[in-house]
Amino acid sequence: MEKNDKTIQNIKNRYGIVGNSDGLLRALEIAIMVASRDLSVLIIGESGVGKEVIPRIIHDNSARKHNKYFAINCGSIPEGTIDSELFGHAKGAFTGAVGEREGYFGAADGGTLFLDEVGELPLATQARLLRVLETGEYIRVGESTPKKTNVRIVAATNVNMGKAISEGKFRSDLYYRLNTIPINLPPLRERGRDIELIFRKFARDIADKYHCEPISLSAEAKERLLNYTWPGNIRQLRNLTEQLSAMYPEQDILPEMLNDFDITDDSHVGAGIVVSNPHCKSSDQTVHQYELERERIFTTLMMLTDKVHELDNIIYNLQQGRAAAPTGINLPVAHPDPVRRIDSNPQATEIIETLKEIDDEDPKEGGSLSIKKHEKDSIKEALERHHQNRRKAAKDLEISERSLYRKIKKYGLDQEMD
Ligand SMILES: Nc1ncnc2c1ncn2[C@@H]1O[C@H](COP(=O)(O)OP(=O)(O)O)[C@@H](O)[C@H]1O
Ligand SMILES: [Mg+2]
Repeated sequence: MEKNDKTIQNIKNRYGIVGNSDGLLRALEIAIMVASRDLSVLIIGESGVGKEVIPRIIHDNSARKHNKYFAINCGSIPEGTIDSELFGHAKGAFTGAVGEREGYFGAADGGTLFLDEVGELPLATQARLLRVLETGEYIRVGESTPKKTNVRIVAATNVNMGKAISEGKFRSDLYYRLNTIPINLPPLRERGRDIELIFRKFARDIADKYHCEPISLSAEAKERLLNYTWPGNIRQLRNLTEQLSAMYPEQDILPEMLNDFDITDDSHVGAGIVVSNPHCKSSDQTVHQYELERERIFTTLMMLTDKVHELDNIIYNLQQGRAAAPTGINLPVAHPDPVRRIDSNPQATEIIETLKEIDDEDPKEGGSLSIKKHEKDSIKEALERHHQNRRKAAKDLEISERSLYRKIKKYGLDQEMD
């Protein structure tokens, strides 16, 4: 345990990471733990929480540390060139391809690729990426023979991945493949006193740069920062510290100095107390809380899906005779293809459908009545077509039976039938 604490402290010093909150320490602990194993890691967290340093820590603490490390922001490369950037292209592969290009997957052979904002990848590129991850082979644009590469992938995403999957913008099979080990970086508002520690670090850095004394926080200003929601997270705190240092050099920051920066104390809103503060965005806050909750459910369900996937693989291996089956246990039949297995896994399908349903019930929409009416009518019609046979109706509607049951209940169709 002590040795572990020392390692974490070393990492924090080396990479300029500040904070002692449980969430941060846990994230660093996992990063160090998985560094030496060649597993895919997915870093999940809101914008500005400090995701970019994690893949670097993983690479530097792995056996690949003397090989190449590339960080690629998938959201900033145009869709037309991303395949050639990642996988390379042959000479004359497309108009303008004068020379050939190796691509990151070739160049990083033996090393690590950090795919930042991986949720932004176009679907065609996702298919290519899945192929490399599963086979270690990739094909350059304009070529047909595959090339071998040995690259470790660390990807990062903001928390909306569950939504991208349910909307069909991100392949769930690729998600499972990337997310072997998830590392969650908590938002700044959940890091308690880290806010103060990080503020002090930034203030000191700025003061060192300009050879002056750092700004400090009055007790009231500190309280305000601790109770603020920080939508831009640590990046926002850094900007604020820079601005305050420029406007009030070497001063003790008073709460009124924060007024220009829209730093409001939101603590009372979360507690559910009605306040008359005109700056208080209580309905926004409710939606925000709801979204956080929903995201938490997404992550939990996703993790459960992974567990189902894992168990399914174990069962499959047992059936293939690659491991000894415990005596007296009858194993269910698993599909030979892992992707089909997860797709045909009723529990996994159920989870994905639940995710979609949660997403459909967004309170911001105020419940789109026409869509709901349409859905209700379709269900009614399907049931009538199949003489109230729910199994057939569900098949027709392309939803699971469980889902149909839920919807029948939701729309009160069971009462209507009686
Ligand atoms: N715990 C931390 N201590 C000090 N600086 C941090 C910490 N976490 C993040 N930062 C800084 O905050 C900024 C935003 O981090 P970044 O990794 O770019 O966020 P993300 O990729 O999650 O949007 C960077 O300048 C980073 O160095
Ligand atoms: Mg980033």
